[in-house]
Amino acid sequence: MTSNADTQRDLISYLDFHVEAGVDAALDERPHDRFGEAEAPSPARAAPAAATLEAEAPRPRAVPAAPPAVRAPQGRTYGRSASAKPDEAADDARARARETRTLDELEALLAGFDGCPLKFTAKNLVFADGNPEARVMFVGEAPGADEDRIGKPFMGRSGQLLDRMMRAIGLDRTSAYVANIVPWRPPGNRNPTPQEVSICKPFIERQIELADPDLIVCLGSPATQALTGTKDGILKARGRFYPYRLENREVRALATLHPAYLLRQPVQKRLAWRDFRLLRQALDGTA
Ligand code: URA
Repeated sequence: MTSNADTQRDLISYLDFHVEAGVDAALDERPHDRFGEAEAPSPARAAPAAATLEAEAPRPRAVPAAPPAVRAPQGRTYGRSASAKPDEAADDARARARETRTLDELEALLAGFDGCPLKFTAKNLVFADGNPEARVMFVGEAPGADEDRIGKPFMGRSGQLLDRMMRAIGLDRTSAYVANIVPWRPPGNRNPTPQEVSICKPFIERQIELADPDLIVCLGSPATQALTGTKDGILKARGRFYPYRLENREVRALATLHPAYLLRQPVQKRLAWRDFRLLRQALDGTA
């Protein structure tokens, strides 16, 4: 006969097995055959965001195709925009973001915004870290597990590398402001979908406007494409300044490689070093 203790041990080792395999978020009561779905794609289904990433995928991706539909947790209803289509949610996000006058107001708005399903699988809103008065703002893609747990961007291994890269040109989080294009962690570290990016984009755009930096650094392809509009892959886009329109002036956005990519491809650090030297020169007024 199986004792309760045996059952409990079995359950714990079953959960451990899943955690080790990278399954760290419960999404639905029924399993989905994502590989089967991928073999028979529906024409209506959105292309996976990974297709846009070219050489770079900042974090290991657990889910290859479009994300599962995420239902609101029991007893919770989505706000006015989440019941709407992604386009309507993005319009709603834009209208509401425009009304905010301070970064605190924007953060409070995001905390109460139910239009992006990622909110319901994330532990925390990951709004920003660093100094909002800084002249330079770094923008990454989306929080990972460490950031989700702590509630601040770039806290894990990528963040430690970013801190070292910043230090090399005399910056730290007292002299730089840090955020992501998507402020909630996509479950299982998958890419945010194009819909999730377009719903969240008005918020990061408003965050940039309110922080009003002189220079923006786009870390990796998704941030570069979302903020500059380029379709170029990051290996082509990096090292270039793109014009970026703020409320009352134009500033520059520099594209560079994402630290997570550099952790996997350390040989590319020499390219990032060139970009960071360029950033230093831009801050010094010599580039
Ligand atoms: N990668 C990102 O793009 N952002 C983070 O905050 C952490 C890792």
